[in-house]
Amino acid sequence: MIDIKNKRIPQHVAIIMDGNGRWAESRGKTRVAGHKAGVESVRAVVTTARKSGVKALTLFAFSSENWKRPEQEVSVLMDLFMFVLKHEVKRLHKNGIRLTVIGDVSRFSAKLQRKIIEAQELTQNNEGMILSIAANYGGRWDITQAAKKMALAVKEGHLAVEDITESTLNSFTSLAEAPELDLLIRTGGDCRISNFLLWQAAYTEFHFTEVLWPDFKEDEFSKALDIFDQRERRFGRTGAQVTKK
Ligand code: IPE
Ligand code: IPE
Ligand code: MG
Repeated sequence: MIDIKNKRIPQHVAIIMDGNGRWAESRGKTRVAGHKAGVESVRAVVTTARKSGVKALTLFAFSSENWKRPEQEVSVLMDLFMFVLKHEVKRLHKNGIRLTVIGDVSRFSAKLQRKIIEAQELTQNNEGMILSIAANYGGRWDITQAAKKMALAVKEGHLAVEDITESTLNSFTSLAEAPELDLLIRTGGDCRISNFLLWQAAYTEFHFTEVLWPDFKEDEFSKALDIFDQRERRFGRTGAQVTKK
């Protein structure tokens, strides 16, 4: 059970959903079985985040580096993405969740791109929570594409170089509409960011857990929220300045 009373809830949570392959291999199954099992955790976390009052949830589903995996695994991941879009979007819509896909989707099949557009359009006016799926996403790609768009705005005379601030650059990034990233979770035991939300993670709290993604369900998510609640966020100030009353 989630107890959200008196808890400081992060407005924006991101998750590097790692460990599907190891979860499957340790059970004598194929890596693909691990990815399939991981879909259940996605459902659990989306539901729990929504219930807890999280405003934005960003999930790393496929990195710009994951194309380097065996062709067959990449192809199953694409099929799974398509399957989830086909079967889950209605439920998301019913629960007031807005779905966006962030990343360079131009490399996906035309069919998958169409499905992504459809899902985004169906849910675009929902205000309960923004669920962003990072697919063919890389943090450096995001900053680069933002810089390119900003340069174009300058070239076309819509923006003066002197007026560029951090918030201007932010407005061109993929998560411009989401609140500040408060909490970044990585399952699977590795303590690295793997080119995920580089710009957005400037003052984010990190939670690394050994739990493998298919085992990360409501209880583990609640635990992460508890840990977040215990953190003292100082943003450059001293502990005394920020001590809770
Ligand atoms: C994360 O699990 C899912 C994706 C990267 C798509 P992995 O497939 O990386 O699982 P491990 O890290 O090999 O266990
Ligand atoms: C990061 O996991 C990407 C996703 C979870 C989608 P990886 O398993 O690909 O990360 P590295 O390469 O081991 O750092
Ligand atoms: Mg991995």
